Amino acid sequence: MTLGVVGAGTMGAGIAQLGCQAGEATRLLDPDGAALERARERIAKRLEPEQLARLELVGSPAALAGCDVVVEAIPEDLALKQRVLGDVAAAAGPDCVLATNTSSIPVTAVAAGIERPERVVGMHFFNPAPVMRLVEVIGGVASAEWALARVRALGEAMGKHVIDAADGPGFLVNRCNRPFGLEALRCLSDGIADVETIDRIVRMGGGFRMGPFELADLVGIDVGFEVAKSFHALSFGEPRWRPSPLQARMAASGRHGRKTGRGWYSYEDGPHRPEDPEPPAGEAPEGFVVVAGESVLADELRYAAAGAGWDVRLPHDAGGDVPRLSVDCGRGDDGPPLQGAPQLLLCDRGSLATLDGDGPAAGFHALPPFESCRLVEMTRGPYTSEAACELGERFFATLGRHVAWVGDAPGLVLGRIVCQLVNEAAFAVGEGVGSAADVDTGMVLGMNHPRGPLAWADHAGLEHVAAVLAALQAETGEERYRLAPELRRRLVLDLTFHEDGAL
Ligand SMILES: NC(=O)c1ccc[n+]([C@@H]2O[C@H](COP(=O)([O-])OP(=O)(O)OC[C@H]3O[C@@H](n4cnc5c(N)ncnc54)[C@H](O)[C@@H]3O)[C@@H](O)[C@H]2O)c1
Repeated sequence: MTLGVVGAGTMGAGIAQLGCQAGEATRLLDPDGAALERARERIAKRLEPEQLARLELVGSPAALAGCDVVVEAIPEDLALKQRVLGDVAAAAGPDCVLATNTSSIPVTAVAAGIERPERVVGMHFFNPAPVMRLVEVIGGVASAEWALARVRALGEAMGKHVIDAADGPGFLVNRCNRPFGLEALRCLSDGIADVETIDRIVRMGGGFRMGPFELADLVGIDVGFEVAKSFHALSFGEPRWRPSPLQARMAASGRHGRKTGRGWYSYEDGPHRPEDPEPPAGEAPEGFVVVAGESVLADELRYAAAGAGWDVRLPHDAGGDVPRLSVDCGRGDDGPPLQGAPQLLLCDRGSLATLDGDGPAAGFHALPPFESCRLVEMTRGPYTSEAACELGERFFATLGRHVAWVGDAPGLVLGRIVCQLVNEAAFAVGEGVGSAADVDTGMVLGMNHPRGPLAWADHAGLEHVAAVLAALQAETGEERYRLAPELRRRLVLDLTFHEDGAL
């Protein structure tokens, strides 16, 4: 196969490198000779001489005659893409597949006005293209199956995992990742926690490699804001995708992240944040702990506490004795309220204020799998007892978990972000944007998430996710938290997203 790549910038150079590695004769086009030379230098560092010999640098569309596939990676501007692809279409011949690497422009819009639009498709790589293992293939309204099949085969020859995505805002992966940044911004603007704390919770509690604010700084806050506006515009105002005024303010300030030396963090001198701490330690005290509730989290907490040396009991096994601590995980517990001991209350089906507003309990939240979470969030209200705060921290320390103190909200920080990730994924599956398997693979391979959102929901329990979302909607009155119909359907039918439910 002969491959053409148009645009020798960040993405184009990477795609051309992949073409050479896959054994394809590869022509890289850019009108900017200096950009071509930079691309060749970059590619040469990573290829063997015989692979590099497959690369040809060209300066005009006429040199793409005879290509089987041309991938364009020129700036994100619809009029420019249409003009350049029109020239390429005329030069390359009627059977050449034209693939756009656009991140945010509908493939259907790029294809409109190009001769034989059935051969125009989306082929979306992730940055850095040679490293990231995922490629999304997107069919526009007119795209033909043979054209899609050709770019799928090309993606596989490049060693990528190829998933299919429908032509809508952000296709599959960028769309499903929207809440990662936007919900974090909401936690910040609602005053639940500060930037550093939110990022630490997401890393240590959720197992993500980077927090949402660190990621925004890496991508560029100005770039992220443009993408956010484009989602909102393309969806005609979907409330889940409303950009944040905080993002707008940062974009206007010129503090755009790493590239400007300053964004949510400062990169001017030294590391932008401290290393995450090692796990705390502590011995289980005398007495016993009651862990109440019938849920995945309750079971995992009982298991972890027993492993840490606690005498763990169910409420009806307390035998009239007063425990050191009661941990109430809520759901499924019909017994009398736990009394007489300092108490922790799981904030999944409501904020602490709504669950125990005038009581002495402290709130907490963690998401299963507890095994891989290194941090638990806690919150307190005006009447929360000191004993509940101290014993709560001590309990989690004996389990080797840090505590982050945050403001009160259903799901606290991590629950809120992850439940919205699950919800977005469920909307995408329900709307036919992609399959559950492709959503999860896409988020792991394209976004480096620790696990797919739907597999995560299967493990944590759809009830847990739905409880957080319903409480957020009830307490904020906002439509952005409405349950995805596909999530509600699976919940009432008692179905998981994946049949085997494996994480
Ligand atoms: N950077 C990312 O993280 C990323 C990830 C996925 C997709 N994308 C998409 O890939 C595309 C390219 O992004 P990038 O970050 O590589 O941009 P870039 O600015 O690094 O590179 C663009 C290149 O296109 C060249 N160019 C401009 N006009 C041209 C023309 N008429 N003909 C040929 N080449 C021309 C420029 O000289 C430049 O070398 C965009 O559509 C972007 O949305 C980017």
